[in-house]
Amino acid sequence: MTSASNRNEVPQLNLFSSEFKENAYPFYAKLREQDPVYRFTLLNGQIAWLITRYEDAHAVLKDDRFIKNPKTILSQEQINKMMPTVERDLLMNHMLSFDPPDHSRLRNLVHKAFTPKMIEELRARIQEIADTLLDAVQNKGKMNLVDEFAFPLPIIVICEMLGIPAEDRDQFREWSGTFIEAMNRPEKMQQALPTFQSFIKYIGRLIDERRKNLTDDLISALIHAEAEGEKLTENELYSMIFLLIVAGHETTVNLIGNGVFTLLQHPKQLEKLKSNPELISSAIEEILRFCGPVELATNRWAGEDVLIHEKLIRKGDMVVVALASANRDETKFENPEVFDITRKNNRHLGFGMGIHYCLGAPLARLEGQIALLTLLRKMPNLHLNTDAETLKWRPTYLMRGLIELPVVF
Ligand code: HEM
Repeated sequence: MTSASNRNEVPQLNLFSSEFKENAYPFYAKLREQDPVYRFTLLNGQIAWLITRYEDAHAVLKDDRFIKNPKTILSQEQINKMMPTVERDLLMNHMLSFDPPDHSRLRNLVHKAFTPKMIEELRARIQEIADTLLDAVQNKGKMNLVDEFAFPLPIIVICEMLGIPAEDRDQFREWSGTFIEAMNRPEKMQQALPTFQSFIKYIGRLIDERRKNLTDDLISALIHAEAEGEKLTENELYSMIFLLIVAGHETTVNLIGNGVFTLLQHPKQLEKLKSNPELISSAIEEILRFCGPVELATNRWAGEDVLIHEKLIRKGDMVVVALASANRDETKFENPEVFDITRKNNRHLGFGMGIHYCLGAPLARLEGQIALLTLLRKMPNLHLNTDAETLKWRPTYLMRGLIELPVVF
């Protein structure tokens, strides 16, 4: 329980600042103890609440009083402040911005492509991509692991699944990065508009080309669904492609980057994994818990007044679940600050919880496992090529990922 007096002991911090990113974990620990339902104000004046304890985070993610579709609850004016109408209609009509029944309808359209069984069929191809990327740098003896390995691997995979040219990846990297940085930041939104428009034009060209030449990729399957009517509107088709490209660009990259960095910072755990590669799946779960790529879940809004720990969250307030904080909650995890690749019962929230639980989890897990094992096998003497203190986290609000990770091997 939290009282108003100790709420004041927690300093107001700008969650969007680099300073916050560098010190997020100690701040979350303080919040879990002193102010687990923390009120803050977004730059557009919207009231928001940060949920930091595991039990509360789990409950909010499963509670249908917290909704994903802002149109249900906010005024048109408030929505327009988030993103202008044309761009929002084309980019934000996807499952992560909808509640049932639209959410279930859209998720069902692509669910089959991401089941563990379907993803397992990609194993040989993912292995081939990992081998090719590492063979290309092997003789150099050093690389920036983010740019040369962690980034291209998941991008090539998602591009192949969707049926889009992987050569365009540098372009989408810039586009999806701009999108992630502009989320919840009205001051960046205007600046980012031309980028969104380029992204929309690109998706439009992809759809036009594919309509003329349907194949067996995911975009063709979605175009079939659109043609059957009722299943998917054109805006939803654009938004689905956009969501899959962004999810494929901003997440697994950081699972690999954060994972390698954390292992290099914990040499005993690294040695344990090298000598026991069968620990890879629990190692990946521990990376997702200890330094998962998605730090904060995407926005939710209270659909009605809700009381949590004596804090009244009013209808229309925004609620942000700090997955990174829940994953270090001392009441849920034994020694949460210890990175232990053999941890049992690791019920982390790194992929979220409830109906929006990550659709790409089986794919991300497989990519992460193959990436790490291949790297350790081919480059057993891997080391950081800089002082760990000089490495910088990307100053994005939702995600946790390193800007670069120079290594020698
Ligand atoms: C390690 C990598 C990944 C992590 C940590 C991750 C994490 C998450 C999280 C936390 C959510 C829930 C967000 C919320 O409830 O607000 C989510 C949803 C989602 N993720 Fe992932 N993700 C990863 C990789 C991927 C990949 C590779 C894809 C597919 C290309 C993907 C597609 C999605 C989709 C479509 C949703 C929305 C699901 C829905 O609304 O029902 N993710 N992800």
